[in-house]
Amino acid sequence: MTDLKIRRIPFDFDGVDFVWNADDPAFAITMNKVSFFAVGFEKYICQAMRDAEPLITDPRVLQEARDFRSQESIHSMAHRKHVKALTARYPGLQAALDRSIELYDKLYAEHDLKYHLAYVGGLESIFTPSFRLMLDNREALFAKGDARVASLFLWHFCEEIEHRSSGLMIYDHVYGHYFYRVSRFKGFMKHVGDVIAAVTEEFRKVFPALPEEWFTQYSNHKLPTIGKLRSMMGITMSQMPWHNPDHQALPEYFHEWSGRYDRGEDMTRTFGVHAQPAPAAAA
Ligand SMILES: [Fe+2]
Ligand SMILES: [Fe+2]
Repeated sequence: MTDLKIRRIPFDFDGVDFVWNADDPAFAITMNKVSFFAVGFEKYICQAMRDAEPLITDPRVLQEARDFRSQESIHSMAHRKHVKALTARYPGLQAALDRSIELYDKLYAEHDLKYHLAYVGGLESIFTPSFRLMLDNREALFAKGDARVASLFLWHFCEEIEHRSSGLMIYDHVYGHYFYRVSRFKGFMKHVGDVIAAVTEEFRKVFPALPEEWFTQYSNHKLPTIGKLRSMMGITMSQMPWHNPDHQALPEYFHEWSGRYDRGEDMTRTFGVHAQPAPAAAA
């Protein structure tokens, strides 16, 4: 079992810019899409975990499910805060949030719990290789952005890696049919793509004057080829029957981030422009 920590970090995003990283608007907007996506997806995870808990017979797996749900619910609330600050400035963005939530509510209504746990387990298992790439390249991607938003994502990616085993562990305990899960993986990814496309469409309506490429591109060129290859390989391997997320090496930044959290530093502004490296208690 994983020893998950439940961390409540008092993020605030009042007045935050839509393009919160002027050095890389396309990356800033890509991460905004993730915030709107995350509210819907993590609400969906929490629903699935709540419905799965009565079916879990091993108390250690039950504890994992509860801690996993707590972390995801806190993530969802933090992204809601980010989204709320953006919609306060640009009310039309509410439609993007509504569509993300609606698409996940619809998915929940249309399928059974086995499907939902397979979706969650399948998707969560690709997060370690994907987010590791972001953490390893945090200087290139986040250093010139608003520290509040940069810190939100770095925290979230660290905790996604911390609970990398939870989704699969719960699916395997309750259902455990490998081929059922893996044969639907492409469909899960298509659904993710549909949600991101809906969010992007609403973004475009609110910001018609911003360059098209800010909504369609992603800072792929900033990432080293070897890192991208390792990430792609990791995503492929994560769908193999023998895959155990626990065996994936943790990025060094995870240890740095959790050490700083444990020392009581202000994790709401831990990286990026105007980051505050001094411990909050000493401020
Ligand atoms: Fe999360
Ligand atoms: Fe997660």
